[in-house]
Amino acid sequence: MRELTFEDVTVRFGSRRLGTVAVDGVNLVVPAGQVVGLVGESGSGKSTLARAAVGLAPLTGGRIRLDGRPVQAFKNRPLQMIFQDPYSALDPRMSIGASIAEAMPRGEPDRRAEVGRLLELVGLSADRAGARPDELSGGQRQRVALARALAGRPEVIVADEITSALDVSIQGAVLNVVRDLQRELRLTMLFISHNLAVVRYVSDIVAVMRHGRIVEYGPVEQVLMDPQHEYTRELLEAVPRPGMPLGN
Ligand SMILES: Nc1ncnc2c1ncn2[C@@H]1O[C@H](COP(=O)(O)OP(=O)(O)O)[C@@H](O)[C@H]1O
Ligand SMILES: [Mg+2]
Repeated sequence: MRELTFEDVTVRFGSRRLGTVAVDGVNLVVPAGQVVGLVGESGSGKSTLARAAVGLAPLTGGRIRLDGRPVQAFKNRPLQMIFQDPYSALDPRMSIGASIAEAMPRGEPDRRAEVGRLLELVGLSADRAGARPDELSGGQRQRVALARALAGRPEVIVADEITSALDVSIQGAVLNVVRDLQRELRLTMLFISHNLAVVRYVSDIVAVMRHGRIVEYGPVEQVLMDPQHEYTRELLEAVPRPGMPLGN
């Protein structure tokens, strides 16, 4: 796993005069083997930053690097993104096993065994490989989306609001999978949510985004105990105390 860095990244939609600056000069480091939780209210630019990282939004300015090299210089899609809506990642006509296998590198010797291994890694039974997405719950589909992202052996995973569309009752289970995977595989991950309680649960580092800028960045405990920015304090006030169910 490698370190992901955003250097002075700007993304503008539309014209210079009438357009929107969705991401405004962002500098952000996702250290190798760590989870950076990116939090901020809706419209703050989180998804645009994520999409820029995987090449889905054009940069107006700045650079995105992996271990110092431009991300575009890497072959085999070094970043894998997981989206809020698990349907968008999974072809409804394909079995989930085929969807996962499709994301594997060319030289994978035993795809079937690897599909089984990945399904079990995300807490699903290997014998579900033949199931179609519509036979699964939303939480199970997000597990499959995670397995599919891992199948591509990415350097970095970008997860954008992956629990936001799920029932509160199953959000925790999916977050546990993310946390367990992180402990086991030391993933480098940019984990995005509008919900600070969700971000806190899985992150080593928190970055707070507002109006296209990072207004606060630091180790999760430090930011939560001693927030420096007024906006972070506001986000914290909306968070239930530890032990309470996750809000949405
Ligand atoms: N493709 C687009 N075209 C024009 N404006 C966009 C586009 N995508 C996002 N925006 C605008 O950029 C801003 C940030 O959006 P977004 O990155 O989706 O925020 P978040 O994920 O934090 O909710 C918003 O004002 C949004 O309307
Ligand atoms: Mg978003």
